[in-house]
Amino acid sequence: MDVVIAPTGVDVGRIAADLITATVQGSADAVLGIATGSSPLETYRELARRVADGVVDLSAVRAFALDEYVGLGSDHPESYRSVIRREVIGPLRLTADLVQTPDGDAPDLDAACARYERMIRDAGGVDIQLLGIGANGHIGFNEPLSSFSSRTRVATLTAQTRRDNARFFESLDDVPHQCVTQGIGTIMDARCLVLVADGERKAESVARMIEGPVTDTCPASALQLHPHAVVIVDESAARILTPSQRYDRRTPVSGVAR
Ligand code: F6R
Repeated sequence: MDVVIAPTGVDVGRIAADLITATVQGSADAVLGIATGSSPLETYRELARRVADGVVDLSAVRAFALDEYVGLGSDHPESYRSVIRREVIGPLRLTADLVQTPDGDAPDLDAACARYERMIRDAGGVDIQLLGIGANGHIGFNEPLSSFSSRTRVATLTAQTRRDNARFFESLDDVPHQCVTQGIGTIMDARCLVLVADGERKAESVARMIEGPVTDTCPASALQLHPHAVVIVDESAARILTPSQRYDRRTPVSGVAR
């Protein structure tokens, strides 16, 4: 696992954008794994700037989102299908038909999950997967005790995750209890994983992911087993990492794809 500690969340986004830019410059129709939530927003902002400046063209990129709430229609503003349209497809000028998000209101959810797995496989697998981390160590919506070999499936959100995500809804009661999420096994099949985290709120789960044992009580610790995982965190999220470890402290070069 490569761990990069960057000065601020903006720098975290720039370094993650560097990795995605390099992947797409190597292969215009690369398959990108995309996340929702607050953590990837700086990465998307930086990518949007590069697209606007003509540094990179993402229009041939194929993309798969990690997860979706069960029971929110695709037009609900907080469904991940809406969020991906608003925050990713539009600003990054992706081609909407090439972007998939799990269908959380399919009549047969298990069949929809199996179909999603097939779509990822038929696309040749994910080249680079962007991830955030939950305060309880979840990746995607794989909550603690999820199997490391799990595939896309219906899962139940913990009370903590529902509380954490209540900020996107009018009230806690509006946050769905269930979701469809790529499994940890699905995520681990991506050729490269890039996890971004910023802020004090993530310090504990970041330390458990990087320095703790590999354990299903911290799903993100599975990244320790991946051959090509990069974790990019800001100083606040890195606060309780062991200082003696030689983590890469990087001051990113502004606006340049490296
Ligand atoms: C979202 C996702 C989740 C989030 C995590 C962190 O698609 O898969 O794992 O990455 O809950 O959320 P934020 O970034 O909002 O703190």
